[in-house]
Amino acid sequence: MRIGFIGDVVGKPGRDMINSHLKRLKNEFCIDIVIANTENASHGFGVSAKNAAELFKNGIDVMSGGNHTWDRGEIVECMKTMPILRPYNLPDIVPGRGSMVCDINGAKLGVINLMGHFTMPICDNPFLKVQEAVKSLKEQGAEAVFIDFHAESTSEKTALFAMLKGEISAIVGTHTHIGTDDLTIDNGTLFLCDIGLTGCRDGVIGVDKEAPIKRFLTGLNYPFEIPKQCKKIFQMVVFDVDGRVCMDAFKIKIYDENEREITKARHE
Ligand SMILES: [Fe+2]
Ligand SMILES: [Fe+2]
Repeated sequence: MRIGFIGDVVGKPGRDMINSHLKRLKNEFCIDIVIANTENASHGFGVSAKNAAELFKNGIDVMSGGNHTWDRGEIVECMKTMPILRPYNLPDIVPGRGSMVCDINGAKLGVINLMGHFTMPICDNPFLKVQEAVKSLKEQGAEAVFIDFHAESTSEKTALFAMLKGEISAIVGTHTHIGTDDLTIDNGTLFLCDIGLTGCRDGVIGVDKEAPIKRFLTGLNYPFEIPKQCKKIFQMVVFDVDGRVCMDAFKIKIYDENEREITKARHE
C-alpha cells in the first residue's frame, strides 16, 4: 500500500494548498490513502465541521490532531461519524478515539495519533500508551502501523523511533511546523522527526510574523493572525508498506503553484 501523510495544515493558505494540489498528486503517485494533521486548519485553531468536510472532499482520508484539537468544540460531534483522531494518550474520559484501522484494498493499516510530554498539555506517558495501542491494532489484524507523533522535542520523537523501529511501519512527527532533514528507513520503519506545515512559509510557523515578534519582545499574549496573502508550501511524505515493512519513501514539497522538490529517504 502507498500512504501519504501531511503535517499541520495551517489556516486558509494551508487548506488552499490541499485543495489545489492533493487530488492531482494522489492520482499522479497512485497514493491509496492520505492522512493529515488538521489541528490548525481553521484559522490556526482546530478544524471546523465545514472545513473538515471541505478537506475530506479534497483528498484527505483520515485526520489526526494534537494540542489544538479542542479549540473548536464542534469537533466532538464530527468525531462520532468522521475519521478524525485525537491523541491516543489522553485520559479515557476524553471524547473521541486515538487510533483506528483502515482497510486498503483488503490490507489493514493501523493509524495512531500520539502526543508528546515536553511543553504539551497533561497526557499519559506516550511511550507506555503507544505499546498498548500497537498491540491492540495488531490484534485487530493491522500488520502495517503508522504513528503521527505530535510532539515538540526532537529527542522525544527520536527516542520513540528507537524504541519502536522494527516493530511498526512508520513514525512521522508533527507540531513544530518546521520540517526536519532526517527522512530515514531503518529496520523497515520510516522515521521523520517533523514533516513541517502546509500553509504560509514566510511568517512564523504559519502565522503572521507581527504577533509572535511582539510576544517575544514583551511576553504579552498578542493574538495570532493567518496572513491573507503569503508565500505558501505544501509538504507530504509518501511511503510504501508491504506487510509491516516500509520499503521506500520520499518527501514532496510544492512551493506556491508549481515549483516542486522531491527528497528520497535514506536506507540505513
Ligand atoms: Fe500545529
Ligand atoms: Fe500542535
